[in-house]
Amino acid sequence: MNRIASVFRFGGPYLKRYWARLVCGILLGIVFGLSNGAILGISKTLLSRVFPDEKPVANQTGGTTKKISAFKEQLLAVRDKLNKVADPWLPLAGRSLDKKEIIALLLLFPALFAFRGYIGYLSSYCMAWVSERVVSDLRQDVFRKLSSLSLDFFNRSTMGDLITHVSGDTASLQRSLNLGVSDLIKEPITILSTFFVLVWIDWQLTLFLFIFLPVCLVPITILGKKARRAAKGNIKTNVSQQSLVIEFLSSIRVIKAYNLEAPQTRRFAEHSRNLVHHAMKGVQAKEMVNPLIETIGAFGLGGLIIYILATHKSGADLAVFIAAVAAVYAPIKKVAGLHVLFQQTSFGVERLIKILREQPSVREPLQSKSLPPFSKEIRFENVSFSYRNDPVLENFNLVIPRGMKLGIAGESGSGKSTLVNLLFRFYDPVKGRIMLDGQNISEVSTSDLRSQMALVSQDIVLFDQTVAENIACGKSDATHAQIEAAAKAAYAHEFIIKLPQGYGTRVGDRGVLLSGGQRQRIAIARAFIRQAPILALDEATAALDAQAEAEVQAAIDNIAEHRTVLAVAHRLSTLAKMDKIIVLKDGKIVESGTFAELVQGRGVFGAMAQRQAFVAVAS
Ligand SMILES: Nc1ncnc2c1ncn2[C@@H]1O[C@H](COP(=O)(O)OP(=O)(O)OP(=O)(O)O)[C@@H](O)[C@H]1O
Ligand SMILES: [Mg+2]
Repeated sequence: MNRIASVFRFGGPYLKRYWARLVCGILLGIVFGLSNGAILGISKTLLSRVFPDEKPVANQTGGTTKKISAFKEQLLAVRDKLNKVADPWLPLAGRSLDKKEIIALLLLFPALFAFRGYIGYLSSYCMAWVSERVVSDLRQDVFRKLSSLSLDFFNRSTMGDLITHVSGDTASLQRSLNLGVSDLIKEPITILSTFFVLVWIDWQLTLFLFIFLPVCLVPITILGKKARRAAKGNIKTNVSQQSLVIEFLSSIRVIKAYNLEAPQTRRFAEHSRNLVHHAMKGVQAKEMVNPLIETIGAFGLGGLIIYILATHKSGADLAVFIAAVAAVYAPIKKVAGLHVLFQQTSFGVERLIKILREQPSVREPLQSKSLPPFSKEIRFENVSFSYRNDPVLENFNLVIPRGMKLGIAGESGSGKSTLVNLLFRFYDPVKGRIMLDGQNISEVSTSDLRSQMALVSQDIVLFDQTVAENIACGKSDATHAQIEAAAKAAYAHEFIIKLPQGYGTRVGDRGVLLSGGQRQRIAIARAFIRQAPILALDEATAALDAQAEAEVQAAIDNIAEHRTVLAVAHRLSTLAKMDKIIVLKDGKIVESGTFAELVQGRGVFGAMAQRQAFVAVAS
């Protein structure tokens, strides 16, 4: 039960938004449940009129008339009145059928069942209307949450896990709400109303019947746990399989080059087998509910017949009772199935609760200060930082005046990209602060901060949109003329107009339809159009050949004009035009100066330059 409660506690605020439809659905569900009882009651009335008891109905209650309360008397009065109205329309033993009765008999049951059927339909419709919207809202919330989380969260998570959050887990809640909510109203009311009709017919018999109910609880609880375990296994395997597919698709070149198709296919097949295994466990738990309840119910049935024979009940009572037993066990089975369903979906819901509670490690300031256009300097003050435990930067200090073109060199892993990451506030320093014009960057909103910066990194990401849209994504209100100007400045215009649809050409998933250098130039155009005063280039030309590099370098020189630039580069020649170069080693500045000074020196930079010159000569 507490799982159902947790699903609803979680879904509650979402359901509240659509309360009007929800209430409609619930009320219709209640009417549906009551109509089940009513059909049974009407059947019983009809049967007792056609096959009358030895004793008239009034006599049955006659003995206890004195004891019955005023309320009951009122009820009986209503019933008598209804009987009087219905009497000419309903057949009676010993009375020949007249026209009215024939019409009533022909129409009564279709009308009753149609009423019940359509009410059930409307109730389910309203509930589905609500649950579809709830799940859509929830999906958007999960997506919004994911987009608000910081990079460290994504470093910790796998792609499969994240995708399952957005699609799989929300789908499991959808299943609960779609199937669960309407049944959760309809079925218990059906059980209750049937219960009351049964009590009306014979309370001892009813008691006898319902004694078997608690017996069902034990196996149902066990089955629920089993279903939850299966769902857990299912989600975990699904996550691994999704990750595998994403990894496979995004590294298909490497996979083919290293003949990894067969092992990857084997891994996929293993996940698929595991999924089948967990799914079948879930099916076992779910499908076991019906036979279990039926078996337990069947024990009752034998006893019931014996009891009826022994107490000489009327034929009509017996028929209605057996119909009622059949009618009451169907909703009981459904409620039990619901329990299993909620257990099954609860694991997905718990995952959703967990992700929605996740907080970004880079927090937006509660009251963000405004950030005027960059005018003076960027200052790293005693900055220490580590991704996990090993320190990457320790007491790092650096001042970059406005307009300076700063080159950052250093061996792989020395902390160059980390510096850029911290400036963009993808992570917060563990100690120290980063100031922009004397303002701590953690006190301004990240969108304000990042609107002053443009980043071109080595791993270019293009979206599966047109070239123009890919360039404009740096600026939402860019005109076509601006896009073209940016492309020209980035030396991209020439190749773009040769593409099949020019600026309207789609670049494919992650820009696969373009070459590395072309992608790079589009990324530079994207940074250019942003017109941001600070430009960070993280190995923007590392992947290019000499020709492409020369072009991209010219593009960078174009865009770097009048801007403050931080350029990270392995290929030292690209830093030749920088005003100043710092050399990092283990997160510390070990050298700094102009290109000419450093290249002559005997330090890290000099050694690197020598190695590269040697390589250049050798090639
Ligand atoms: N997301 C991360 N999680 C944990 N450690 C990281 C992460 N990113 C980088 N590191 C570690 O931080 C250190 C500095 O990394 P950084 O990316 O800043 O190096 P880099 O100087 O840019 O190197 P390269 O020239 O190879 O790009 C490395 O030792 C690296 O292992
Ligand atoms: Mg790097």
